[in-house]
Amino acid sequence: MNQPADTATTVGKINPDVLTFTEGKDPVLDLALAEVDCIGTAAHVTMLSRMDYTPTLFTDDQRRAVIAALRDIIAEARAGRFTITAADQDVHLAVERRLTERLGDLGKKVHTCRSRNDQVAVDIRLHVRNELNALQGELAALAAALVALGEAHRAIPMVGRTHLQPAMPSSIGMWASGYAEMLLDDAYPLEAAYKVNDLCPLGSAAGYGVPLPIDRALTSDLLGFARPLHNVFYASCARGKDEAILLGACVQIMLSLSRLAEDLILFSMPEFRYFTLPRDLCTGSSIMPQKYNPDVLELIRAKAALLIGQSTSAAVILKALPGGYNRDLQDTKELYMEGLRVTRTSLRIMRLMVERLTVSPDRCRAAFAEPGVFATDRALELVASGMPFRDAYHQVRDHLEDLRGMDPDEAIAKKTHLGGTNGIDYAALRARAETLAAEATARQAAIDATFARLMAD
Ligand code: ARG
Repeated sequence: MNQPADTATTVGKINPDVLTFTEGKDPVLDLALAEVDCIGTAAHVTMLSRMDYTPTLFTDDQRRAVIAALRDIIAEARAGRFTITAADQDVHLAVERRLTERLGDLGKKVHTCRSRNDQVAVDIRLHVRNELNALQGELAALAAALVALGEAHRAIPMVGRTHLQPAMPSSIGMWASGYAEMLLDDAYPLEAAYKVNDLCPLGSAAGYGVPLPIDRALTSDLLGFARPLHNVFYASCARGKDEAILLGACVQIMLSLSRLAEDLILFSMPEFRYFTLPRDLCTGSSIMPQKYNPDVLELIRAKAALLIGQSTSAAVILKALPGGYNRDLQDTKELYMEGLRVTRTSLRIMRLMVERLTVSPDRCRAAFAEPGVFATDRALELVASGMPFRDAYHQVRDHLEDLRGMDPDEAIAKKTHLGGTNGIDYAALRARAETLAAEATARQAAIDATFARLMAD
């Protein structure tokens, strides 16, 4: 059988099937990293140009020439004109090729003292940092929308359920602001993921450093990271771990969204109709003319399953992976990119739903027709007049019909303790959402300013 001719790449001749297999989706996925790869390169070259070393690795003029060319490549990437060929294999070698086409021998120097392992690790962290700020903004916006929904309907009673059975009087305010608080707490693991990600691996090279006195603290500062990862071997091992931690945080958000979606599907069914979903956010049936289906919410439920899969896949790729770079790590790239995209889109689409759904106070109150839902409140009233709780419990249980006619509005007004139906601090929850949004905006503005300084003439 004839062997196909090997394909010439920047790093040697490779069997075409092997090349296709090993590069996988990198030529497409890496397009998302083109801009940050240029920024990482700008920081690296700036650091090399400031090194007190003979011979000079980069003069200041050479640094400026490289940065000017990188600016052009960023413009190409933004215009969708930057391409990664099969021979490039990935964005790192594609950028080097473009620089060499533009700058000749100068372009061939940018790989001095670094490796692609180094580059991909820093690119991912730069990319994740931007994405996490955007994600946190979406999370804060949805939490704020839920707080607003709750506050607007703070006095509308809603049957509170355990095991899905009527349990005790609750309110739309409690339900909606409860989900808001769940999402606000999901911001804690997200914050941890941001902190772990905000560390600079650059200068690790292939994972073992270089024999020249590079300034790793400088590259970290130039890129606006909190600090460099210290041990360069660990810096290379941290690839994938960063992404797995991030996906873990996204899983928590998606679990919250999935539960909220499930409640909305249930409580917008005709049998309940506490909520009516906006018609243009529902989809129809090709055969049943009457249908308005909550496909959006069903897909959010499914996306939560996908996130669990992506998170688990990343963890399993890392498990028992030997220290140092291994190509397995490449396959964590699509997982984190997809995980971030899905989580962000789900937050946005859920906010549309929450902002525009309508509440039916009549249907909410009608659900209290079955009087058992007041039983615990009545037992505690008896306790308040001196009866031991267990006696009150049995007395109420034996006379459930006596509860008929109890008023759900009164019931929810009585729960004035912290976090009860009449004790929810909507302003505090709103303030938490605002703080999260402001923090994400400020962090991103600082990053943008740092990048602008680095890429300036
Ligand atoms: N595309 C590769 C990845 O994502 C870049 C690093 C390649 N390094 C190597 N030693 N083959 O992992």
